[in-house]
Amino acid sequence: MIKVGIAGSGGISYAHANAYLALKERAKVVAVSDVELGRAEALAKYLGGAKVYSDYKDMVESEDIDAVDICLPHHIHKEAILYSIEREKHVICEKPLTTSLSDAEEIEAKVKESKVVFLPAHTNIFIPSTQEAKRIIAMGTIGKVLTLRTTDCFRGNVTGWRTKKELMGGGELIDTGYHPTYLMLYLANSEPTEVFAYLERFVQRMEGEDTALVLIKFKDNSIGLIHSSWAYDTPYGHQYFSVSGEYGELFGGGNKIGLKMHGWQEVKKELAWKDGFLGEIEHFINVIEKREKPIQTVSDSLKVMRVIAAAYKSAEEGKPIRL
Ligand SMILES: NC(=O)c1ccc[n+]([C@@H]2O[C@H](COP(=O)([O-])OP(=O)(O)OC[C@H]3O[C@@H](n4cnc5c(N)ncnc54)[C@H](O)[C@@H]3O)[C@@H](O)[C@H]2O)c1
Repeated sequence: MIKVGIAGSGGISYAHANAYLALKERAKVVAVSDVELGRAEALAKYLGGAKVYSDYKDMVESEDIDAVDICLPHHIHKEAILYSIEREKHVICEKPLTTSLSDAEEIEAKVKESKVVFLPAHTNIFIPSTQEAKRIIAMGTIGKVLTLRTTDCFRGNVTGWRTKKELMGGGELIDTGYHPTYLMLYLANSEPTEVFAYLERFVQRMEGEDTALVLIKFKDNSIGLIHSSWAYDTPYGHQYFSVSGEYGELFGGGNKIGLKMHGWQEVKKELAWKDGFLGEIEHFINVIEKREKPIQTVSDSLKVMRVIAAAYKSAEEGKPIRL
């Protein structure tokens, strides 16, 4: 039984809590924390009981836990990751890795020096359409990948710490835009070499951008387009992708996947649904128990941070940035 402490008891901690409840034979959340104690108490109640702390450091220090699940605002990720790994706790951390590239490099080095498991919570890697797309691309069905598009757009109402660039590390791109970025790098399976971005704040009252369009050139000559926004909804749901290959087109999102080979009708399939949070936390447990090799590491997260930092630089300078 893996004993877990959750740092941060806000919105997303409930998605993590649901996963631990579903995996209750293998992991137990024994403690939760939040600077707003009422939030920690509410999460503890939802979980059917857990010790409550206002300071996550006290929780990590005092509780007999194996792992820390970080669901904190972005500007506290670095401190919380380092505090936890220094105390030899395994860590799963919500995106982004941290708020700056230099901090991300420091975290990567410290994680690599440590003996603990670190899993970036790249949720959408674990949803059925991503795994099926990865499998189809690897089989060579669509041939060489030419272009890729990953999208994550929804109209929201941005408030609180998300309105501040300093606490976010940027705007929408380093928050929701982090998902289509790691998804792009995972499906492309080639090293990004150049990044060009347009970032705009269309409707939200926030310091950073609410919309990002980012072009990535890869080493194998393929090109990716990331489209992410909090300014509007998109017609096919908020998260989806498409990949054009030599022989055909692959597209999907959630539990749906489609394949359209050149000259043939498209074939669509509904896959058995598996929640991405459940998938990532189950994988985290499997990696700790040495049943699985991690499919995402701190270095994958650092690559995402490199692309995002280059996108911010590109938007600022109005030119492509070589990585
Ligand atoms: N994977 C996804 O789809 C997804 C969706 C939403 C959020 N997230 C990520 O989850 C993280 C949290 O986002 P959220 O939407 O839950 O935010 P939130 O504001 O709802 O929750 C954050 C919580 O952290 C608490 N907190 C702040 N400082 C603290 C400290 N020093 N110690 C303990 N608690 C502290 C706040 O009081 C708040 O309850 C972010 O990294 C965000 O990007 C991921």
